[in-house]
Amino acid sequence: MEHILFLFTIFLSFAFSTRCNDVYTYSKKDFPEGFVFGSAVSAYQWEGAADEDGRKPSIWDTIFHSIPPNDAGKGPTGDVACDGYHKYKEDVRLMYDMGLDAFRLSISWSRLIPSGRGPVNPKGLRFYKNLLDELKSHGIEPHVTLYHDDLPQTLEDEYGGWFDRKIIDDFTAFADVCFREFGNTVKFWSTINEPNMLAFGGSGLGIKLPTPQTNSYRGNSSTNQYIALHNMLLTHASTASLYKKKYKDKQNGSVGITCFTYWMVPFTSSKEDEMATQRAKDFFLGSVLHPLVFGDYPGSVKRIVGKRLPSFSKEESDLVKNSSDFIGVIHYTIMYIAHLTSSTDQDFVSDMNASLIPFGNSTLVKYDVLPWGLEGVLAYIKENYGNPPVYILENGQSSNHSSSLNDVGRVEYLHAYIGAVLNSVRNGSDTRGYFQWSFMDLFEFLDPNYTYGLYYVNFSDPELKRSPKTSALWYSAFLNGTTSSSHELKNSGSFSAL
Ligand SMILES: *[C@@H]1O[C@H](CO)[C@@H](O)[C@H](O)[C@H]1NC(C)=O
Ligand SMILES: *[C@@H]1O[C@H](CO)[C@@H](O)[C@H](O)[C@H]1NC(C)=O
Ligand SMILES: *[C@@H]1O[C@H](CO)[C@@H](O)[C@H](O)[C@H]1NC(C)=O
Ligand SMILES: *[C@@H]1O[C@H](CO)[C@@H](O)[C@H](O)[C@H]1NC(C)=O
Ligand SMILES: *[C@@H]1O[C@H](CO)[C@@H](O)[C@H](O)[C@H]1NC(C)=O
Ligand SMILES: *[C@@H]1O[C@H](CO)[C@@H](O)[C@H](O)[C@H]1NC(C)=O
Ligand SMILES: *[C@@H]1O[C@H](CO)[C@@H](O)[C@H](O)[C@H]1NC(C)=O
Ligand SMILES: *[C@@H]1O[C@H](CO)[C@@H](O)[C@H](O)[C@H]1NC(C)=O
Ligand SMILES: *[C@@H]1O[C@H](CO)[C@@H](O)[C@H](O)[C@H]1NC(C)=O
Repeated sequence: MEHILFLFTIFLSFAFSTRCNDVYTYSKKDFPEGFVFGSAVSAYQWEGAADEDGRKPSIWDTIFHSIPPNDAGKGPTGDVACDGYHKYKEDVRLMYDMGLDAFRLSISWSRLIPSGRGPVNPKGLRFYKNLLDELKSHGIEPHVTLYHDDLPQTLEDEYGGWFDRKIIDDFTAFADVCFREFGNTVKFWSTINEPNMLAFGGSGLGIKLPTPQTNSYRGNSSTNQYIALHNMLLTHASTASLYKKKYKDKQNGSVGITCFTYWMVPFTSSKEDEMATQRAKDFFLGSVLHPLVFGDYPGSVKRIVGKRLPSFSKEESDLVKNSSDFIGVIHYTIMYIAHLTSSTDQDFVSDMNASLIPFGNSTLVKYDVLPWGLEGVLAYIKENYGNPPVYILENGQSSNHSSSLNDVGRVEYLHAYIGAVLNSVRNGSDTRGYFQWSFMDLFEFLDPNYTYGLYYVNFSDPELKRSPKTSALWYSAFLNGTTSSSHELKNSGSFSAL
C-alpha cells in the first residue's frame, strides 16, 4: 500500500512537470540543437579477435576462460564475440544507414599496449585508426571509453590492478598514447566505465562479475573496495589533468567519467528506509560524483567507513575536483532500498546498512519500463552536483537472444526512456546526448542468453550475420524525424507499420 502511494506521488509530479499533454509523443526535433543520439558497444564484447595481431589477454579473457565449458563444448567467451575487429566496415555502414549521430566504443588496452605498459602494438594502433576514420568518414562522432573493465592481465598479475596506485601512472601513459594517436579524431573521452560498479560490484578486482550481489571480493573487502574506487578516481583525475595540460588547446575535446546509476527508492515509507535510501545514494552515486564536484567523499560515507576509507590529500583533492567535463550516466532500472539491520560482513552493503531489492518484476538482466527512474537520476545530478553536462552512455532493454526479431518490448522501453530524457531536458537537466545499449547483440557476461542489440547477431552462423530487429527500424525512423507516440505503439501491438 505504501508503495502504491509512493508511486502515485511520483506519477503526479511526473504529469505536472511536463508541458505537453501527451508526454509520450515526441520527435527528434523536440530535442535541443546539437543533442546527439547514438548507440554503443565495448571492445571485449564486440571485437573478438582475442588473440590476433598481438593482442594479449585482459582480465575478461582470463575470467571467461576459467568458466567450465558447457554441453556444446565451449563456455561463453568474447574470443569471437561479433568479430567487430574484422567486420567494422560493415558495422559502420549499418550505423550510417540507421542514421546514428554518434557511436560509443572502447579501446582494448591490451590490444593497444599488450603488456599494459611499454611498446605500442602497431596492428592494434592501426585497427583503432581505421575504425575511427571509418566513423568520421560516415559523419559519425566517436565517443571513446578508455577503460571498459578490461584490465591487461599482466598488470593484474604484477600488482593486483586497481588495488595498487601503480595503476595511476600506467593508465595515464596508456591514455597519453590514445590522446596523441586518436585525439585529432576523438573529441569525447570517458576515462573509466562504471567505477562504482567495478569497485563495489567486484569486477574491477579482476575476479568477479560486476554484480552487487557478488559478495566475495579478493582480500579484505572491508577496505579493498574503497581502495579500488579511490585509485580509479585518482586515475581519472590524473588522465583528465594530462589532457588539459598537453592536448586540450590543440584538440579541443572533453574528458569525462561514467557512473552506474540505479535510481533508488525506499522499500517502505518508514523513516529507516528513507534514511537508508539517502545513504545508498551517497555510497553508490555520491562516492563517485561528490569527489568530482567537491573534492571529497560525502560526509555520511566518511563518517560510516571511517579509517577504512582512503583520504584525499589537499593536492589530490584539488586534482579530482572539477576533473570531469561531463558525467556519463549509465542507467537501466530502479532498486528499492531497505534498511539493513544485521549483517556480519563488513563490506559496502553492510557499511551503508542498506540492501538493494529489485523493483517490480525487474531482474538483474531484464527490466520493467520505469522511465521515471532515469528522470530521478538526472534531476538528482542536476540538483546535487551543479547541473553538469551529462551524456547518457548506456540505456537499453535486454531480450531473450533466441526469441523473435519483433522486439516490441525493447521499442516500448526505448520510446519511454527517450521520452524521459526529453522531460528531463525540458526540466533543466544539461543532458546532451543519449546512447542506446547496444548497437548489436554482444557477448553479454551477466547472462549471454539476454542481449540488448538493435541488430540480432546469429552467433551460430560462421558469418555472424546481423539482422535488424523491429527496434532498429524504430530507432532509425526516430532518428530520421518520425514522431513516436506510445499510443500508436500500444495500438499497433507491434511496430509492424514499418
Ligand atoms: C524537475 O526539476 C525540479 C527542480 O530541480 C525537481 O524538483 C523535479 O523533481 C524535477 N522533475 C522531474 C520529473 O524530474
Ligand atoms: C579487514 O580489515 C579491517 C580494517 O583494517 C580489520 O579490522 C579486519 O580485521 C580485517 N579482516 C580480515 C578478515 O582480515
Ligand atoms: C571547441 O569545441 C567547442 C564545442 O565543444 C566549439 O564550440 C568550439 O568552436 C571549438 N573550438 C575550436 C577552436 O575548435
Ligand atoms: C572547471 O573546469 C573548467 C575547464 O575544464 C572551467 O571552465 C571551469 O571554470 C572550472 N570550474 C570551477 C568551478 O573551477
Ligand atoms: C548499521 O547497523 C548496525 C547493526 O545493526 C548498527 O550498529 C549501526 O549503528 C547501523 N548504522 C547505521 C548508519 O544505521
Ligand atoms: C528463449 O526463447 C526460446 C525460444 O522462444 C526458448 O526456447 C528459451 O527457453 C528461452 N530462453 C530463456 C533463457 O528464456
Ligand atoms: C543460457 O541458455 C542455455 C540453453 O538454453 C542454458 O544451457 C544456459 O544455462 C543459459 N545460461 C545462463 C547463464 O543462464
Ligand atoms: C543461424 O545460423 C545457423 C547456421 O548458419 C542457421 O542454421 C540458423 O538458421 C540461423 N538462425 C537464425 C535465427 O537465423
Ligand atoms: C527520411 O525522411 C524523409 C522525409 O522526411 C524521407 O524522404 C526519407 O526517405 C527518409 N529516409 C529514410 C532512410 O527513411
